[in-house]
Amino acid sequence: KNVLFIASEAVPFIKTGGLADVVGSLPKYFNKDEFDVRVMIPKYTCIPWEYRKDMVYKTHFYIDLAWRSQYVGVFELQYNGITFYFIDNEFYFSGPKPYSWIHEDIEKFAFFSKAALSAIPVLGFKPDIIHCHDWQTGLIPVYLKERFSQGEFYQGIKSIITIHNLKFQGIWDIKKVKDITGLPDSYFTPDKLEAYNDANYLKGGIVYADRVTTVSATYAEEIKTPFYGEHLDGLMNARANCLSGIVNGIDYDVYNPETDKSLVANYNQVTFRKEKWKNKVALQKELGLTEDKGKFMIGIVSRLTDQKGFDLVAYVMDQICAEDVQLVVLGTGDEKYENMFRHYEWKYNDRVSANIYYSEDMSHKVYAACDAFLMPSLFEPCGLSQLMSLRYGTVPIVRETGGLKDTVEPYNEYESTGTGFSFANYNAHEMLGIINYAKSVYYNHKREWNKIVDRGMKADFSWNNSARKYEELYREL
Ligand code: ADP
Ligand code: GLC
Repeated sequence: KNVLFIASEAVPFIKTGGLADVVGSLPKYFNKDEFDVRVMIPKYTCIPWEYRKDMVYKTHFYIDLAWRSQYVGVFELQYNGITFYFIDNEFYFSGPKPYSWIHEDIEKFAFFSKAALSAIPVLGFKPDIIHCHDWQTGLIPVYLKERFSQGEFYQGIKSIITIHNLKFQGIWDIKKVKDITGLPDSYFTPDKLEAYNDANYLKGGIVYADRVTTVSATYAEEIKTPFYGEHLDGLMNARANCLSGIVNGIDYDVYNPETDKSLVANYNQVTFRKEKWKNKVALQKELGLTEDKGKFMIGIVSRLTDQKGFDLVAYVMDQICAEDVQLVVLGTGDEKYENMFRHYEWKYNDRVSANIYYSEDMSHKVYAACDAFLMPSLFEPCGLSQLMSLRYGTVPIVRETGGLKDTVEPYNEYESTGTGFSFANYNAHEMLGIINYAKSVYYNHKREWNKIVDRGMKADFSWNNSARKYEELYREL
């Protein structure tokens, strides 16, 4: 079967979050004899030149969007055994970042969706299934339906949409969206693209796709409730028969403490006791923290937004940053959280380090150096950072929601089981209690701690399991 992923980002070309990790790495893990999985993303001018220079021009054509006729260039690149296609149009895809203001993005991704679908006949690769990701590609199942009615090429192509984050839906004024997309009025009703008097791209995708998936089993259940449903819980219930959750994996070649070039000391499940601490001391030195290999170091690598639970952290920062703790933060996002961490770095200079920027290299150093990794999310469709931590022997401390609940098994001191620490209620003191519990196991029961690390490093969150589940889904279609 031929499958085409269409998405707004993919590693290593362009990444703002976990979506890119998934779209860029999952295709490598399919059974190549049965599935030919390729990927299509925009050819942003902010994709590094090292990749752009190797992209091969295939063809170009024009499509109508609103009142403009728009250029669509199609480029191709082989990377790590996967074929990537890039849709070129500098009017939409230039600038320092892939996303801008919502009103610009609304037009940008209407263009991308229409262009991507229109490009398929010229690829020399006809997908049996188009696999869309998030709101940016929500219009694709809608346009696909529209093309069916015109017969010919597109008939029989199935579509899947994967929801990586229900919070972002692509919502804008109906009249504007009608103008931009050129879709007939009949699409803009409450059972189709309309939601609460606006047009909603993701909703369109969910209504028209043959299957809907999300990135963990728990999140697939949660979004049927008003608290997590982002006003679409009714729709999620209506689509329950076609909705499933498949947990994400991570790329075990890229996230491998044994071969990772960002680390000063490589290690594996056997050698971590002897080697891992060297990464901690190196990071303490680099960031100007007190050099002490025995200090309990907590890491955070994250977008700094409300989703990730930082209001809980803000509430008890003084208590978290006790004298026997070091906290290393790497992240960007809401100014209030950026400034909060900067403030505490100033206040507790020897033990808090706020790194308010984006760096893959530094993220690997933090995953390797820390003892624990804090991720108290309000909601979390899957979460990849906790999987990266597990892989690097860094014990996750998480809230039991979405993928965090499905991937971190809480430590049970009586049975000596579990891979991390977790709490249930969205409550700052509950979080603080569990952080302090983790700390006490680290300081007072080191053998137990090391067993937690060991179990976490043994757990398999490569794509191998989940890729099989996607294969099953493709076969069903
Ligand atoms: P989300 O997609 O909601 O942001 P995930 O946990 O799924 O959360 O994925 C986050 C990804 O982004 C991980 O690969 C993480 O390492 C990376 N990341 C987040 N912030 C930074 C940063 N400041 N520097 C480097 N990598 C980051
Ligand atoms: C979204 C979610 C995150 C998930 C990622 C990849 O960004 O916030 O939980 O891991 O997508 O699916």
